[in-house]
Amino acid sequence: MTQEGVNQGRRRFLGAATAAVGAVGAVGVAVPFVGSWAPNEKAKAVGGPVKVDISKVEEGRLLRAEWRGKPIYILKRSPKVLETLASEELKSLLLDPDSETSSQQPEFAQNDARSLNGSDILILEGVCTHLGCAPALHYEVKAEPFDANWMGGFFCPCHGSKFDLAGRVFNGVPAPTNLPVPPHFIEDGVATIGIEGGEA
Ligand code: FES
Repeated sequence: MTQEGVNQGRRRFLGAATAAVGAVGAVGVAVPFVGSWAPNEKAKAVGGPVKVDISKVEEGRLLRAEWRGKPIYILKRSPKVLETLASEELKSLLLDPDSETSSQQPEFAQNDARSLNGSDILILEGVCTHLGCAPALHYEVKAEPFDANWMGGFFCPCHGSKFDLAGRVFNGVPAPTNLPVPPHFIEDGVATIGIEGGEA
């Protein structure tokens, strides 16, 4: 082989070797990328926290969100409603007025309003604890077809379960427990649902 032929052969060999290193390099880069991408997708699938702007929520108007595929109800209640929620008249009609079934709410929501510091903002999972229908809000105190002495609350149209404006279940209906309060915290007019304040 001439010197020219040897040089051409070496250039072809070096070119092939560089391409091979390039391919290995690409795989080397791709693996850590997939590794860091996978947990985020997994977190999304199980449902990371969601943020909802509640700064403009109006009293008595239900704001809806979604967390882990479940409907979330956000409701601002009046001072009069908070008073009613603490009244013995209402509590005597409820199955679990003091929310003693602790799994239905975080510890911070075990109060008459079932909210952070007993505040006017209620955050609930909008899933009936009987068979999972969506209870409808009937906020006003007035006679309703399903209750002539209605004091305001949520009514499940599927089998007639009734809940008060803190999501506490009434006696004598099919639903066995209060509507769950998801972990959450509120900061600067934004509710973060799926995590309690102070959690990492
Ligand atoms: S699903 Fe709500 S009462 Fe049955």
